[in-house]
Amino acid sequence: MILELRDITVFYGPVRGVSGISLDVAEGEIVALLGANGAGKSTVLKAISGTVKPRSGTVRFAGQDLHHKRPHQRVGAGLVQVPEGRHIFPSMTVFENLELGHYVHGGGARVRRQRSEEVLELFPNLRPRLGELAGKMSGGEQQALAIARAMMTKPRLLMVDEPSLGLDPQKIDTVYDLLGDIARTGTTVLLVEQNVALALEIASRAYVLAQGRVVLSGDATSLASDERVAEAYLGSVPTALKTS
Ligand SMILES: Nc1ncnc2c1ncn2[C@@H]1O[C@H](COP(=O)(O)OP(=O)(O)OP(=O)(O)O)[C@@H](O)[C@H]1O
Ligand SMILES: [Mg+2]
Repeated sequence: MILELRDITVFYGPVRGVSGISLDVAEGEIVALLGANGAGKSTVLKAISGTVKPRSGTVRFAGQDLHHKRPHQRVGAGLVQVPEGRHIFPSMTVFENLELGHYVHGGGARVRRQRSEEVLELFPNLRPRLGELAGKMSGGEQQALAIARAMMTKPRLLMVDEPSLGLDPQKIDTVYDLLGDIARTGTTVLLVEQNVALALEIASRAYVLAQGRVVLSGDATSLASDERVAEAYLGSVPTALKTS
């Protein structure tokens, strides 16, 4: 397993974000994290990237305990998160946004240029737009840019938080095609989505969260026909839904 979470609990002050989350991601897989608003999906990603500190539990990445690693050290270890809402810099050019991805990682100008080339091969649509202001691009293009910027760090694990949010169906397809391409190049993908059908199409396995807990998990094809997934989206945690 490239990523192993064991019994992760996160609190925001008195508010419990997630409770006792355990999950595994194997190298090269696309794994989806599903669940309704407030289920705890983003909190799980933040616990992995190190932007929140779990009260208890362990996160292991590539065999290493991440407990004492700061977020930028986790990026250095090969773990990167595209946050919800993209967070590109609208008044900078597409190229400058990409370069920023590299500053997180470090490395000289030559390495940076080489990595830009590799990333632009994956994102050919960005190439003719490099000189444009990022804020002028459509939502779908901005999402692609946010993913491309994360890919500049040459991650082993890419985490993407709700990439389909606010995009029309055609743009969503484009972004999902990109995620498929990224996975085919050997990067592991952990994908947070509210759109179940979409996520289960691309993922090999998924975990469903409700009220901060994993209530269902399994391979994508069996979850796609499991009525309990819809139940979990109504926010309930029926006793029938035992973590498998
Ligand atoms: N900064 C915060 N301060 C206090 N409570 C928080 C904070 N962030 C998240 N929470 C709470 O933690 C729980 C899990 O939130 P989280 O954002 O992880 O859910 P989510 O599944 O990503 O939801 P969404 O689909 O709306 O993005 C929710 O009850 C939420 O209100
Ligand atoms: Mg979220």
